[in-house]
Amino acid sequence: MTGAGQSGAGQSGASAPGPTPAEALAAIARIAHAETGIVLATGGTAMLRARLDRRLRRIGLTGYPAYLAHLTAPAGRGERRHLISALTTNESQFFREPHHFALLHDQILPALVARARDGQRVRLWSAGCAMGQEAYSAAMLLLDLMPDAASHDIRILATDIDEDMIDRGRSAVFATADLAPVPAGLRTRMTEPVPGGLRPCAALRALVRLRPLNLHDDWPMRQHFDVILCRNVAIYFTPAAQDRLWHRLSAALAPAGWLFIGHSEHLPAAVATGFDRAGITSYRRLVPAPAR
Ligand SMILES: C[S@@+](CC[C@H](N)C(=O)[O-])C[C@H]1O[C@@H](n2cnc3c(N)ncnc32)[C@H](O)[C@@H]1O
Repeated sequence: MTGAGQSGAGQSGASAPGPTPAEALAAIARIAHAETGIVLATGGTAMLRARLDRRLRRIGLTGYPAYLAHLTAPAGRGERRHLISALTTNESQFFREPHHFALLHDQILPALVARARDGQRVRLWSAGCAMGQEAYSAAMLLLDLMPDAASHDIRILATDIDEDMIDRGRSAVFATADLAPVPAGLRTRMTEPVPGGLRPCAALRALVRLRPLNLHDDWPMRQHFDVILCRNVAIYFTPAAQDRLWHRLSAALAPAGWLFIGHSEHLPAAVATGFDRAGITSYRRLVPAPAR
């Protein structure tokens, strides 16, 4: 955290004028960018204002200078979580980009299931998971192939910077309409009705671990992943931050591991050379030659 906005409101002497609304808005955008890496200008200032205004109304503040003062005061530290939540785009769907899930089902998971049955550790990671829709989608395919998956060392990590999303993903109540893209057989067998909609069944939830994680921070995971889905996340970052992310994700993959990216995202050439293209926005890491 850089506290980029701290040169703004609340720092000057009592007689010094505070920041104008435009200066405060720019300072808030800098703080949010430093926290998330998201380029806030991408969606236009109108979107930024609309999202911030909603947050201000919710906490009963008027004006960006007042919000900046709140955000940068020691007592306002917890507000950063809400700022991030207000500004991130959390749109997701079950089985989004069905061709990725077809590849998972047909080619990738059968081999991983065999490895898990053989006693090996297998890990999938949904990075930038929103409420866990893609992680739960993968878990449905896994559970379909391996009904006893929970008793083997095969798990799906799902992480997001937005802690509200992680909380909601853990409680896992989805509107019934959200589950419409799930193949009917899986939906019937693997979800249960709850007040407010449908919830993935306990066996599914046991396979998915939801954790808050900012992709720009250090990653605490030490093990390599067999599959990483990082889709529609990097698109919001600066080109430099995107580059760094793809390098880091590539390094986090096991040899011959799989990487899925968003339909409008691209691997930089220096990263792409380490992969075979296995389909649209689907990559398989090349196995490095053994050290001599
Ligand atoms: C548009 S959603 C994509 C969700 C899912 N991957 C998909 O494709 O359906 C982007 C997600 O990335 C998360 N995100 C944005 N910046 C992030 C960061 N720096 N670290 C981790 N997650 C981030 C957002 O909170 C949001 O939930």
